[in-house]
Amino acid sequence: MKNFKQTYGAWALVTGASSGIGEAMSIELAKQGVNLVAVARNEDKLLTLKTKLETYNIEVKTLSVDLSLPGSSAEIAEKTAQLDIGLLVANAGIENTGAFIENSQDQERKLLDLNITSPMELSHIFAKRFAKKGKGGILLLASLFGYQGVPFVANYSASKAYILSLGEALNVELKPLGIDVSVLSPGLTDTPMTQNMVVDFKKVPITSHQPEVVARVGLNALGKKATVVPGFINKFYAWENRLIPRSWPVKLFGILIKRAMTVKTTGNKQAAV
Ligand SMILES: NC(=O)c1ccc[n+]([C@@H]2O[C@H](COP(=O)([O-])OP(=O)(O)OC[C@H]3O[C@@H](n4cnc5c(N)ncnc54)[C@H](OP(=O)(O)O)[C@@H]3O)[C@@H](O)[C@H]2O)c1
Repeated sequence: MKNFKQTYGAWALVTGASSGIGEAMSIELAKQGVNLVAVARNEDKLLTLKTKLETYNIEVKTLSVDLSLPGSSAEIAEKTAQLDIGLLVANAGIENTGAFIENSQDQERKLLDLNITSPMELSHIFAKRFAKKGKGGILLLASLFGYQGVPFVANYSASKAYILSLGEALNVELKPLGIDVSVLSPGLTDTPMTQNMVVDFKKVPITSHQPEVVARVGLNALGKKATVVPGFINKFYAWENRLIPRSWPVKLFGILIKRAMTVKTTGNKQAAV
């Protein structure tokens, strides 16, 4: 793995740092001596993480911010203005599994605010800073579900398709400015997100990965690859759907997810708010 401190500088900012893949990313960077700004909502979890990260003799600042709220990116910009941040890991995200019209519209909008607006705004803020220095790194979190539409996870998979496309484009656009952009698209990863999903993943033919492995694959891709998918089977899923009609994997995922959902839908008859 590259020397992140040497390549991008002394500080990194990780959103969604308090659990799952974000926590694993934070620990990996801390092991390399990179100081961290850890962002999430729950202050207690952030303080527990800070104690853990400080055992690696780094400086840690925690920011308790709800990134789905308007103004949250500006708040991050203001609170980090004096720090020489060289790496942004825009990792925070939520899912919302269920029949589209039975899900709450407010929750679907919140998902877009967190999964799309926040990483876009933070990428904009930090890319401008990095461009002035002529160096920096941005790691965006998409998903294997972003490689095709996924019924019953429709809004989430669409949000991740946006991130995949944004990151692919920025990888090329920002390269001449000295900024590395990569998109990490994990498949099933064993984190609180998937543990709380209303899907029995034992019924879906995909293998689960540990967040530490996924975090290392993502960090390792920076400066080398525009996009990366951890795991051989996940890579296959992402690759094969470029060779077959787009509708096939969408239909397949629709059957698989519907069969594996632990909360049964009413058959899409009732629209939610
Ligand atoms: N796990 C998977 O199988 C998988 C697969 C593909 C992609 N991903 C993507 O990987 C990323 C991390 O997922 P994960 O599985 O590690 O999830 P996770 O364990 O649920 O962690 C989510 C993190 O985001 C924070 N967060 C949630 N809502 C937030 C908000 N409104 N404002 C600020 N922070 C917020 C959480 O802390 P607080 O609750 O304290 O705010 C937590 O630190 C997500 O973008 C996800 O879509 C995950």
